[in-house]
Amino acid sequence: MEGPRKIPESINCHQCGAPIDLTGQSAFGHVECPRCEAISVVPVHYGHFLLLYALGIGGMGTVYKAVDLQLNRYVAIKILRKKVANNPMFVEDFAREARAAAAASSHPNVAQVYAFGECEGQCYLTMELMSRGSLDDRITKLGKLPEQEVLELGIQIAGGLQSAHARGLLHRDIKPGNILFNSEGVPKIVDFGLSQVRNRTNSVAGPPAAIWGTPYYIAPEKLRGKPEDFRSDIYSLGATLYHALAGRPPFDARTANLATMKHATPPAVLLHGYAPTMHESTVRVIARMLAKDPANRFESYDALIQAFHEALASLKADEETHTIVVPRRKRVFTVGILVVLASLIVAIGIVVLALAVANRGKVFGIGRTAPSTPTSSSGDAGAPLSGTDRVR
Ligand SMILES: Nc1ncnc2c1ncn2[C@@H]1O[C@H](COP(=O)(O)OP(=O)(O)OP(=O)(O)O)[C@@H](O)[C@H]1O
Ligand SMILES: [Mg+2]
Repeated sequence: MEGPRKIPESINCHQCGAPIDLTGQSAFGHVECPRCEAISVVPVHYGHFLLLYALGIGGMGTVYKAVDLQLNRYVAIKILRKKVANNPMFVEDFAREARAAAAASSHPNVAQVYAFGECEGQCYLTMELMSRGSLDDRITKLGKLPEQEVLELGIQIAGGLQSAHARGLLHRDIKPGNILFNSEGVPKIVDFGLSQVRNRTNSVAGPPAAIWGTPYYIAPEKLRGKPEDFRSDIYSLGATLYHALAGRPPFDARTANLATMKHATPPAVLLHGYAPTMHESTVRVIARMLAKDPANRFESYDALIQAFHEALASLKADEETHTIVVPRRKRVFTVGILVVLASLIVAIGIVVLALAVANRGKVFGIGRTAPSTPTSSSGDAGAPLSGTDRVR
C-alpha cells in the first residue's frame, strides 16, 4: 500500500484474545502473542477500514481483507494504484463503472459492490469478501474439474452475466481469476466493467499486454478492435469453462500471445483431446461458445442456459443408466455363479450315483457271497458266486 501507514496501538490475539502491543511493528509484519504465541499480521488503518492482510495483487492495485469499522463487517477492498488514480478521467470513469457494477450485484452470482471512494490519494472499491478463493485457484488445486460441477457453474455464471446484460452492462474480462467462491462455495463474478476503465487508462497504467496478461479468454472481435457485445462475454465464459474441464486453456501457449492473436485466433485445441470422457453435448456447448464469429455463438443467454441444462440432463441420464447397469451386472454375475454351483452339485451327484450304482453290484455281489443265496448254482455253501450270479 502506498502512502502513510497507520498501525493501531494494539490488537487482540485472534486465538486467545490477549492484547498484543504493536509499538515499533511495521505494517503487515508478523507479531507473536505474548500469551499463546500464535502469530498475527499487523493490520493497518486506511480511512474507516482496518486492512488485515493482502489477498492479492492485480492489474489495478492490491486487494485486502479488511474490517469496515463503520459498519463492523468484513469486506474485500481493492485499493487502486496512485498512478492509476492520477488520470483526471479515471475517477469519473471508475465511479460510473462502480455504480453499474453495484446495480448488477443484486444477482446471487455477482459479488456485491458496497462502496467506492478515495482516501489518502488512492481510489478504492469495497465489495463482498469471497473467502474460498477463485476458480483459478480451484483449477490449480484440482487440475480438471468434474463435468457436472463445470456445467452447474456455467449455468450460475451465465445467469449473473444475463442479469448484468439486462441492465446494459458487459463484464469484458471473464476469466478463472474473476470468478470467486464465497464461504458457502457459491460462485460469483467480480470486477464488472473494471477492464473497461483499465483499458481507457492504459496510457498511465502500463502497456496493455502487461495489464491483460494472457489473451486466452478474450473474444477474437475484441482482440481485433471490433465492437463487443454480450456474445464476447459468452466467448470468455466458454474459454474459462474449457480451462476448468481440460485443466488447461483452449490455446497453445506457444502460439497464443497477444501480438499473434490480434491478427488471427489459432484454432482452439479440441476439448475431447484433454477430456476424453466428456459428453458430446458438453463439448458442443463449449465449442459453440468459442465460435470465432459471434453470429455462430448462442443468440441469447436463455439459449445458452437451456443448452447447459440439456447437457446436464444428458450427463445425469447417462449416470443413472450406469447406476442401473451395475446392479444388473451384479445380479447376472450372482445368478451365473449359482448356476455353475448347481451344475457342479448335480454333476458330482451323478458321478457319486454312478459310482454307487457301479459299486452296488459289488456290494450286492459281496452280499451274495452270503452263504444263504438260494440260487447259487453250485449250492456250495461258502463258494464264491459265479459272474452270472453277480449281475443277476
Ligand atoms: N471480493 C474479493 N474477495 C476475496 N478476494 C478477492 C476479491 N476480489 C479479488 N480478490 C483476490 O485478490 C487478488 C487480486 O485481485 P484483482 O482483481 O486485483 O486481480 P486479478 O483478478 O488477479 O487480475 P485483474 O487485475 O485482471 O482483475 C486475487 O487473488 C483475487 O482472487
Ligand atoms: Mg480480478
